[in-house]
Amino acid sequence: MRLIGYLETSIGIEKMTATDGKIRIGLSMRYLGYHMAAWRHPDVPAAGAIDFNYFLRTAKKAEEAKLDMIFFADGIGIRANDTPKGSLARDAKNAELEPLTLLAAIGACTSHIGLVATASTTYNEPFHIARKYASIDHISRGRAGWNVVTSWSQQEAWNFSRDEHLGYEERYERADEFVEVVRKLWDCWEDDAFIRDKASGVFYDEAKLHVPDHKGKHFKVRGPLNSARTPQGRPIIVQAGAAEAGRELAARYADVVYSNANSMESAKAYYDDLKGRLAKYGRTPDQLLIMPGVTLYVGKTRGEAQDKFDQLQNLIDPLSGLAILYGVLGDLSEYELDGPVPDVGNQRVRSIAENLLALAHRENLTIRQMYKRVASGNNWQIVGTAEDIVDEMEKWFRAGAADGFNICPATLPQGVDDLTQYILPELRKRGLFRTEYEASTLRGNLGLQPLHFGD
Ligand SMILES: Cc1cc2nc3c(=O)[nH]c(=O)nc-3n(C[C@H](O)[C@H](O)[C@H](O)COP(=O)(O)O)c2cc1C
Repeated sequence: MRLIGYLETSIGIEKMTATDGKIRIGLSMRYLGYHMAAWRHPDVPAAGAIDFNYFLRTAKKAEEAKLDMIFFADGIGIRANDTPKGSLARDAKNAELEPLTLLAAIGACTSHIGLVATASTTYNEPFHIARKYASIDHISRGRAGWNVVTSWSQQEAWNFSRDEHLGYEERYERADEFVEVVRKLWDCWEDDAFIRDKASGVFYDEAKLHVPDHKGKHFKVRGPLNSARTPQGRPIIVQAGAAEAGRELAARYADVVYSNANSMESAKAYYDDLKGRLAKYGRTPDQLLIMPGVTLYVGKTRGEAQDKFDQLQNLIDPLSGLAILYGVLGDLSEYELDGPVPDVGNQRVRSIAENLLALAHRENLTIRQMYKRVASGNNWQIVGTAEDIVDEMEKWFRAGAADGFNICPATLPQGVDDLTQYILPELRKRGLFRTEYEASTLRGNLGLQPLHFGD
């Protein structure tokens, strides 16, 4: 029903949906949740982001709930500035575990849930990435995924011997070649290359090794990878770029896209655009799943859900609130928090400043109300009962605006408990979410076709 536009043009009726009528669900597990005040919530373990057991408990709950995957966003260093002074010391995002190391450990203690971690193409070498994700795919027996990002902050550049971050074009040009090389490395051994025949003494079949010997503009990588072909053939590739170059990278390589959307109309436009780009790379719409991020505040009643949201909003420290306005409106710490937003504007991002000021005037917002509004972020958010929320999810899914959702919980582990208690029963009642895993690999559970050597 959802892919009707593509049905007539490129794929048969039997492949009507990319997901066999089921919504895919990932759980974004970075830090202690996605709300900036999550760490101050009374039920959140404030030291959790450096505690393996906290992550393992949450991952196991996600697996019991039969979610498709857990997902770790990442930045390589502390990205925030201490503006206004004192705000950085109030930010919980200053100490976390490195996500690939974490995934390897979680992979050893779980059996079905997909394991996706972010790694940057700007501050890694393709061989490192190919080798690490191949290892995770072996360790987890086919559940690894790589979220490909190009990094964006100046602070990350300073951690890698650069004064300036690479420009947008160069980053994406490098990313494209980077993923090409990683794929070549993953593809250098055929499925059955390792015969390990003790009688003849032959360990691998020489005809089934294909040395990449890649020579390009950014990379010179001979290979081969010192790993056998992995259980999934290749780990799953996830991408999260929103602009032109990011979309092309996703269309060419990604199995899953983690997108940002705040209305069904914009999600649908993005979905159609991206799926429409696949044909030029010889791909069909069912080979790429699009999963917008969403933050849910759910309760037995709408009032209870609203209370959960308000509780967190009221925990935002004023200095942290001023820090999120700083980049656009400058330092407002001298002004009265419960007074009107003053008419100031940072020249660097004038258009955003003008939009914010227009909003403040239109709605007569105080500084405190303004930072609370901005703190909610760009992500799609829904506050309501399970029925309200699943109505929305189903609407997006049936309209062809999403194949699934990447849940970005406000707090953890409560976010996964809310899924289990409220959202999944409602989705299952409507036949929209699995009751058991269909496969043991991430590729299998996502409903993507198995990969064979040469695909
Ligand atoms: C939903 C979403 C999630 C992202 N997650 C990360 C991340 O975890 N780490 C990171 O360095 N960049 C992340 N990014 C940034 C992108 O990789 C990319 O650098 C940025 O969106 C700029 O590219 P674009 O103009 O194509 O969107 C994310 C972007 C989006 C839209």
